[in-house]
Amino acid sequence: MTVIINVIVCYIRTSSFHDLQHSPCVTLYNRAGRVGCGTVDREVQSGPIYYYDGNNGVPTGGQNFVAVIEEYQMTAEVINTLVSANSNGNLKGIMVLNGTDTDTDRSNGEYASPGPIYPLGYGTPSEGISYGDNDFAWNANGDGLIHSDLYGVPMVYINEYETSYYIRNAAQDENKASVIYSEFNYYMGPDGINSKDCLKWVDTENQEWNPKCLPLGGVSVWGYAGSPPKPANDDNNSNSANTVKSAVIVGTSIDSTSMFHDLVPGSNEGASNVLATIMAAYLLGKSVDDATLDQLPNRIVFGLFEGEAYGYLGSRRFVNDVLNFQCNDQYTVRSMAKDENSDMACLYPMRPSLKFKDIGNIAAMLTVDQVGVPSGDGNLFVHNSGQTDMGSFLANVMMSSGTSYYKVAASAAENGNDGYPYPPTPLSSLLSVTGGGVDGAVLTGYDYVFTKRPPYQSHVQGTQMKLKAIASAATILARTALAAAYDNGSYDSDTASSYATNAIPELSYDDDLLVDLADCLFVNGNCKLLSKYASMEAANDRDKTGFEIGSGTALGQPPNYYVSIYHMNNGQPFVKVGSKVYGSYDGDDYGKSSGDSIGMQPKMLQQALRNMLHTFLGQGSSMVDGDGNKVSPKSCSSAAKCKDISYCSTDADSATCSADKLCVCQRGFYHIALDEAVDPTPNKSTGFFDISSDDAGVSALWTEPFWASSVGVNMYRYTDSNAGWFVLASGAIFSGFCFFLVVLLKVGMKKEKLY
Ligand SMILES: *[C@@H]1O[C@H](CO)[C@@H](O)[C@H](O)[C@H]1NC(C)=O
Ligand SMILES: *[C@@H]1O[C@H](CO)[C@@H](O)[C@H](O)[C@H]1NC(C)=O
Repeated sequence: MTVIINVIVCYIRTSSFHDLQHSPCVTLYNRAGRVGCGTVDREVQSGPIYYYDGNNGVPTGGQNFVAVIEEYQMTAEVINTLVSANSNGNLKGIMVLNGTDTDTDRSNGEYASPGPIYPLGYGTPSEGISYGDNDFAWNANGDGLIHSDLYGVPMVYINEYETSYYIRNAAQDENKASVIYSEFNYYMGPDGINSKDCLKWVDTENQEWNPKCLPLGGVSVWGYAGSPPKPANDDNNSNSANTVKSAVIVGTSIDSTSMFHDLVPGSNEGASNVLATIMAAYLLGKSVDDATLDQLPNRIVFGLFEGEAYGYLGSRRFVNDVLNFQCNDQYTVRSMAKDENSDMACLYPMRPSLKFKDIGNIAAMLTVDQVGVPSGDGNLFVHNSGQTDMGSFLANVMMSSGTSYYKVAASAAENGNDGYPYPPTPLSSLLSVTGGGVDGAVLTGYDYVFTKRPPYQSHVQGTQMKLKAIASAATILARTALAAAYDNGSYDSDTASSYATNAIPELSYDDDLLVDLADCLFVNGNCKLLSKYASMEAANDRDKTGFEIGSGTALGQPPNYYVSIYHMNNGQPFVKVGSKVYGSYDGDDYGKSSGDSIGMQPKMLQQALRNMLHTFLGQGSSMVDGDGNKVSPKSCSSAAKCKDISYCSTDADSATCSADKLCVCQRGFYHIALDEAVDPTPNKSTGFFDISSDDAGVSALWTEPFWASSVGVNMYRYTDSNAGWFVLASGAIFSGFCFFLVVLLKVGMKKEKLY
């Protein structure tokens, strides 16, 4: 009896999948148009499933269909074949099946990279902000699928292996395929518009401004080692050695992308970059004290930049702001209006903190990229054009700073008469903004071409990153940064690198923090370690803003490194004026109410990274007070408990609370990561943007359309008047899957849909 009941339950369950678990394709607008997928309009689109293996032709004669393909078939060639057969709009969608589980022989190498051949360069929407020679084929394995416009064709990835298995079997069986329908509800906005149109969208009925999209963006994290720079606006300090110091920036991107919105593992890109850079800060803080750093001619600054995959959003904002930002006096305020110790901020254009103004000149930038899976055995690579003394100095220091596992070799990348090109990293922002005036060097795992395994910007990236290589990169970065801070303009790389190598020991690849953090960044982004750091930073922020800031969106499991939209819940700063909250403000009432303040809610990763910078670099002069006496650190529960800390008492220093619950000196900060073409509209709530008056028209200006709450994918058995009979008959055919499915499918139920 129970067997019969089970079988009946099973018939019902297998006859439809409501809200099939899936990851939708990324759909975006940019300055010139759109990329990505989506349905033609708000109507759902459906058709019978059809298994396309790349060779078997597509249904002809105007017959509707939904293509089911294997994930290794997700190439520009296959998708273009499908789409070009779609002249009548009969291709209703594409389902990409999870096949990674059994694909061991393919071991990632056979997957195409959907990224462009010239990432952020020639032929891409970011071409205008690339620097110099932008047509070097760094991603030779890439087919650029990420930039194709599949308007009218929704595409989703079926995450679950078991569900994919079921759909594959059904799609391969002609009898079943013709009656199993897949239905997409994925309207992502109309064709023929661009980012400016959707940001400025006005509803026709009431003529109200009602944006249909938001810019991509979020929060970058930066910080410095050593005592803080003297405030740029402090006249008494014009002769101070600390003010005239220039910054050597250690920078990296902390994001990646893929074809699918919530499936951006970015292990060899964002994740490895973050790990190498934050471990370099850890190693530096552990090895060199503030007193030593304060005596060096240059200051070390760390920059972890968000939104780099979409046109260097974080690094261009940061570099441009450090070098060029001026806040009009009337908009220069305290971030907490009534607290004279809070950071200076700018109400319009909105900058929640002006700390970056203290950095002063930038002397150079070292960047790191894709060191998780080095292409060479025992080698990392340095890229430098050889055009400046500083650049050559940095490259030479890197080459003499190798570890027992990885040496650094000069990259062989050369582009004929154009010389030695730079791969796309935040250094390109600095070179582009300064017209090549400030140089640097890039440390990578690849030589003249990105690795094929894992494919760049792919949703398929394993978690097996080489910690020996990442630890080596951290060591090399820390040493090179220290050597550059030590250099006094003589560019004596031998002396400087031996100084740095003596000061900084090699980071062990089984260092506990490295191993734990690797697990968070590659495997489980909801880990305790990140939330410990992030929740303390949220508590510090509550003290410093008065807003109820909590821990932001976690990376998730598996971690997702997609930048996402610039939004109040994802880094867009907001200012409270009386009882109103705006994205920026140009009126006169700020400060009239005691609660007026500026706040922001970053993602959890950024909160954690900021607190790590305080924790790793904020030990003061080794806990020595103003009179040179050793003091033990004070314990705390949040920043408010860290007033008047003797070891953070130099001018401009302030204390905050570390994840270890000790008062440390504040060393980490946030910076907005937002396309330079847009600014939040004054006196409007967040989510409204103006095109900036000094938009040079060169940035990509990526925006993401709003999603309807009803988006999703359903599958159902097509039934006609013989429905009952049909379900029973076909139920028998499906019974082989039955018990398997009841147990494994995490999909809901839906009543038979009758057409
Ligand atoms: C595909 O399914 C396997 C097995 O369930 C899973 O481990 C893997 O993460 C899935 N792949 C993707 C890209 O989600
Ligand atoms: C700069 O450093 C070099 C050693 O690297 C030293 O010989 C030289 O005297 C220094 N110059 C100044 C102006 O301090």
